[in-house]
Amino acid sequence: MKIAHVLSLIMALLLVLLAGIGYKRFTGDVAVGKRLAENNCGVCHDMTATRKHGKGPYLWEIHGRPAGVVDFPFSVAFRKFAEEKPFLWDEANLERWLINPVAFIPQTQMAKQTKDHPVSFDGIQSAENRRDLIAYLKSLR
Ligand code: HEC
Repeated sequence: MKIAHVLSLIMALLLVLLAGIGYKRFTGDVAVGKRLAENNCGVCHDMTATRKHGKGPYLWEIHGRPAGVVDFPFSVAFRKFAEEKPFLWDEANLERWLINPVAFIPQTQMAKQTKDHPVSFDGIQSAENRRDLIAYLKSLR
């Protein structure tokens, strides 16, 4: 094989690799998101088709679901907010919620620590982690 052929083969392989990485960065990595969700949300949220509530509502089919419609004892603050300004859990709203739930819906229970439940949720700071998490949430159907 001529050196030029080898070089163009290497270039082609590199392009495919870079495109793959770019695609993953753009759409989010579901496998990474799953691990992040298990670590950051699993203690309060069931994410299986079992649809069992925990400290928070189940998250099966969360993407595209209207906020606060499942049969879960939402906080007064959350219920009021979702009644006055109904919205869907699309990517943009999930993103806002994951950055900081309290900035989205002041006084939501999601970020609150209680005596029985010392775990709280402080938001996902990394944009890359949020993208992976949202990719995973979208796969829950
Ligand atoms: C400390 C427990 C806790 C953790 C950790 C937690 N949540 Fe929640 N989540 C809640 C509670 C409680 C609510 C209900 C909020 C309310 O009623 O104010 C909620 C509500 C939600 C809702 C709204 C659901 C609906 O039906 O409208 C979404 C979406 C959500 N959480 C996603 C997540 C994701 C994703 C994570 C992980 C990155 C996470 N939560 C981590 C407790 C938690």
